[in-house]
Amino acid sequence: MSTPVPVRLHVNGVEHQLEVEPRLLLVHALRDQLGLTGTHVGCDTSNCGACTVHLDGRAVKSCTVLAVQADGAEVTTIEGLAPEGELHPLQEAFWNDHGLQCGYCTPGMIMAAAGLLADNPNPTEEEVRHGLEGNLCRCTGYHNIVKAVLDAAKVKDATITTPTSPSQQPEVRA
Ligand code: FES
Ligand code: FES
Repeated sequence: MSTPVPVRLHVNGVEHQLEVEPRLLLVHALRDQLGLTGTHVGCDTSNCGACTVHLDGRAVKSCTVLAVQADGAEVTTIEGLAPEGELHPLQEAFWNDHGLQCGYCTPGMIMAAAGLLADNPNPTEEEVRHGLEGNLCRCTGYHNIVKAVLDAAKVKDATITTPTSPSQQPEVRA
């Protein structure tokens, strides 16, 4: 076992200081060390996108990033997408449009969609389909997922992904 190294992660508005093995993937740091189990692991080939989070505002597959590579970065997971007790417009749209069945792909799908809308707030159906190509769903056939993203795009503030309210300002947890 290699020597743990210190990593500082700023996750959903909270700063965390961790000791991690250099080989530890970001997805495992989030799930196993911070208990943020909304970020899923659906494959070991970087294909499924269930592990998608935002790293410094960009959607990334957190199984392709080492925790040490995220040192000092701003990470948003599905738990931080909306203030506690509220739904993000994308979550609302997935609910209303039945954009999920088993739900396993849903956190990653929503984080990928949030990244897509941040880059392109008014996408066409084709652009949504293209933008979500890296996220797999074995249940829905994608139609309602695409519909949900298009519906969410009509809602003001659907692109806001980073916690900004005073209650979510940084605090340090060891
Ligand atoms: Fe499948 Fe990351 S767990 S792409
Ligand atoms: Fe089951 Fe997408 S809803 S994998």
